[in-house]
Amino acid sequence: MTTELSSDAVEGLLDRAREDYEALAARGLSLDLTRGKPAPAQLDLSDDLLSLPGGRYTAADGTDVRNYGGLQGLTELREIFADLLQMPVPQLLAAGNSSLELMHDCLVHALLSVAPGAESRWADQERIAFLCPVPGYDRHFALCERFGIDMIPVPMTDAGPDMDVVERLVAEDASVKGIWCVPKYSNPDGVCYSDGTVARLAAMETAAPDFRIFWDNAYAVHHLTDERVEIADLLGVSAAAGHPDRVFVFGSTSKITAAGAGVAFFGSSAANVQWLLANNAKRSIGPDKVNQLRHVLFLRDAEGVRAHMERQRALLEPKFAGVQRILEAELGGTGLATWTTPKGGYFVSLEVPDGCAKEVVRRAAAAGIVLTPAGATHPYGDDPRDAVIRIAPSYPSLEELEQAILGLTACVRVVGYERGVRQASVGS
Ligand SMILES: Cc1ncc(COP(=O)(O)O)c(C=O)c1O
Repeated sequence: MTTELSSDAVEGLLDRAREDYEALAARGLSLDLTRGKPAPAQLDLSDDLLSLPGGRYTAADGTDVRNYGGLQGLTELREIFADLLQMPVPQLLAAGNSSLELMHDCLVHALLSVAPGAESRWADQERIAFLCPVPGYDRHFALCERFGIDMIPVPMTDAGPDMDVVERLVAEDASVKGIWCVPKYSNPDGVCYSDGTVARLAAMETAAPDFRIFWDNAYAVHHLTDERVEIADLLGVSAAAGHPDRVFVFGSTSKITAAGAGVAFFGSSAANVQWLLANNAKRSIGPDKVNQLRHVLFLRDAEGVRAHMERQRALLEPKFAGVQRILEAELGGTGLATWTTPKGGYFVSLEVPDGCAKEVVRRAAAAGIVLTPAGATHPYGDDPRDAVIRIAPSYPSLEELEQAILGLTACVRVVGYERGVRQASVGS
């Protein structure tokens, strides 16, 4: 239930918010909530990696990991992650240190060489467009901008992208060649795609014969609650629906072991895997198998990964709980904001009244709290409602995080009341 506040009541709330904001600014803080990086304590959990593989340098099949070759990556590492990424081992590659790099390479290869099922190279086509569920991951959008790929925003629902919109757009326009999806604990709104969404993505008719789903499963094992959310196996469901080559699956250990010094994975149909391997063979003589062996020895098996992620959760959960507690205490029932309560992943998405996000971020920066730029969650940096702010709780200490979130709520209150928000919800 909502109630309309009187002008006097709003004036009083604004005065108090301004006092809080001025006190905040006077503290001379310097806090950074911009990127979803693991905190040093999370990286410490993988310290033992640094002394591995010790004196050992042979893989299970006798391969000398110090030498060239083995483009598919070590089988024993692929065996560990096949289960976690829902992928048959032969269709999973273990590659370099970054899944974003693999996404980049897949785009480049599709532009420059004919992908399975394609009639021509994407570079030879007049227009290429990708669907971009919003809010989404800014680096996906940056890749599209880099390669001149038009971006078409699609609204997110709490079960994944709005599939009515997706089905219509892919059916009517052959220049729509792909869609970005972060299917589990999505960046930034923590959404997990429902089985119904997966089934529709797998079965939908696309005008482009070479349509690809970039299935960026970056947070496959990054649970924050006892409920370890599982999503349906898009690759398997797509193959069963007659679209075996539709899906590119990506993942990495960036937020499992070491960010930037982990291992990235690519999974797809046999035809797509062969296509990527053939193209990658031109750019590298093989991945860093020493790092891959190190990961095998450290993580041991899928259960080892799950146990390690429980230790990650123990560090992250209090931070996410702190964010929820402060947002609820300061903004709950005010009508000034809504926010997500993710069950995993790295982000909380805060929605402020339309037209306020940029100003909130500006005020926060002026008080020493740096946030991801408003708009970064949308293609071309343009959030048409100017409402979404991404919060990345992982990197700062708990104390710094709590200061930053408290400061952020003061900014939301100042901007919201200045803009005349008068709706308060009662009984919430
Ligand atoms: C959705 C998503 N995909 C990919 C990445 C980057 O992954 P990697 O380190 O494997 O390149 C991130 C990092 O924040 C992410 O949020």
